Amino acid sequence: MNLMSETWHWVVIVITAVNILACWWLIRWSSAQGDSSKGDNDTLDHVWDENLQERNQPLPRWWLILFYGTIIWGFGYLIAYPGMGNFAGTLGWSQEGQWQAEVDAVDDIYAEKYARLAALDWDDLVASDEAMLTASRLFAANCTTCHGSDGGGAVGFPSLRDSEWNWGSDYDSIQATIVNGRIGVMPPWGPALGGDQGVAEMVQYVLSLSGSDHDPAMAAKGQAKWTMCLACHGPDGKGNQALGAPDLTNNIWQYGGSEADLAHSIAIGRNGEMPAHKDLLSAEKIKLLSAYVGSLGDSDGS
Ligand code: HEC
Ligand code: HEC
Repeated sequence: MNLMSETWHWVVIVITAVNILACWWLIRWSSAQGDSSKGDNDTLDHVWDENLQERNQPLPRWWLILFYGTIIWGFGYLIAYPGMGNFAGTLGWSQEGQWQAEVDAVDDIYAEKYARLAALDWDDLVASDEAMLTASRLFAANCTTCHGSDGGGAVGFPSLRDSEWNWGSDYDSIQATIVNGRIGVMPPWGPALGGDQGVAEMVQYVLSLSGSDHDPAMAAKGQAKWTMCLACHGPDGKGNQALGAPDLTNNIWQYGGSEADLAHSIAIGRNGEMPAHKDLLSAEKIKLLSAYVGSLGDSDGS
C-alpha cells in the first residue's frame, strides 16, 4: 500500500477532524435557534407577498438525534476502518486486502484445473481443447491490448500468428519470452550511415533482401555498408534470435515495410519491449499461454 507522507498524514487527519467538529457545532448552533416557548408565533422579520412569513422553529428532536448518531457512527467508522491519514483502522481492512482475498478464492477454485493442465507436455497441451479454450481467455485478458484480439499484432507489436519469431519459436523460448519479457535493441544508424542519403541507400538494400521493389544502384551502395548490420542481422539478413534481431528477408515487418518506416527503423532505431509476466501470471498460466501462442503461429514444437 502506498503511504502518504507524514505531512499529508496530518493534513488529512486535521481536515477530517475539523469537518466532524464543524458538523457538531452546526447542529448545536441550529438547535439553539428559535424560542419554543413562543410556539407558532416566533417568526422572523421578513414578510413576502403581504402575509407570507418565515417561522423560527427549533429542529425536530428525532432529526437532531439522527444527526448526532451519524457523527458518533463516523467516529466509530474512522476507528475501525482506514480514513485518518495513514492510520490503518483496528479491523485491518484494506482495498488491496479485499481484492487479494477475492483473487485467492478464485485461484483456489481453479488451482486443481491449472495444475492438471500444466502437467501435460507441450503436444498434449496444444491438443487439449480445454487447455486451449482456457488459454485463449487468458490471452484475451492479458495480451490483446498489445497483440490484438486474434494475436495478429499492430505496428510496433509483433503478430504472433505469422512465421516470424524474433526470439525463438519453440515452446520453451516462447515461455521464456513471456516469463522474463524481451527488449529489442536496434541502435540508431543515421549518423554512422552518413545521414539521409546513406539511410535511403540502406533502405533500398533492405528492400532487396525480401525481393521487394527497389533501386538496384542505391541498394548496391547500401550493401557496401552491411558490415554495420551484420553482427545482429547476420551476413544474409536472416537475423539472430539470441539478440531478437529480426529476419529482414521475409517481408514481415514489426514496424512497417514502407520506405519511410524502414528509414525510421534504420536512422532512429527501435526498442520494442515485451513486458515480463512472471509477477503477473502464475507459472501454470504462462505454460498454457506459451502452448496457445505457439499454436497460433508456426511453432517449431518443443
Ligand atoms: C545491435 C544489434 C543490431 C544492429 C547492429 C542492427 N540491428 Fe536492426 N534490429 C535489431 C533488433 C534487436 C531489432 C528489433 C527491434 C525491436 O524489436 O524493437 C532490429 C530491427 C530492425 C529493423 C526493423 C524490422 C521490422 O520488422 O520492422 C530494420 C529495418 C533493421 N533493424 C535494419 C537494420 C540495419 C539496416 C542495420 C545496419 C545499418 C541494423 N538493423 C543494425 C538489432 C540490430
Ligand atoms: C504492453 C504491451 C504488451 C503486452 C501486454 C504483451 N506483449 Fe508480448 N510483446 C510486446 C512487444 C512490444 C513485443 C516485441 C518485443 C520486441 O520488439 O522484440 C512482444 C513480443 C512478444 C513475443 C515474442 C514474439 C517473437 O517474435 O518472438 C511473444 C511470444 C509475446 N510477446 C507474447 C505475449 C503474451 C502471451 C502476452 C500476454 C501474456 C503478451 N505478449 C503481452 C508487447 C506486449
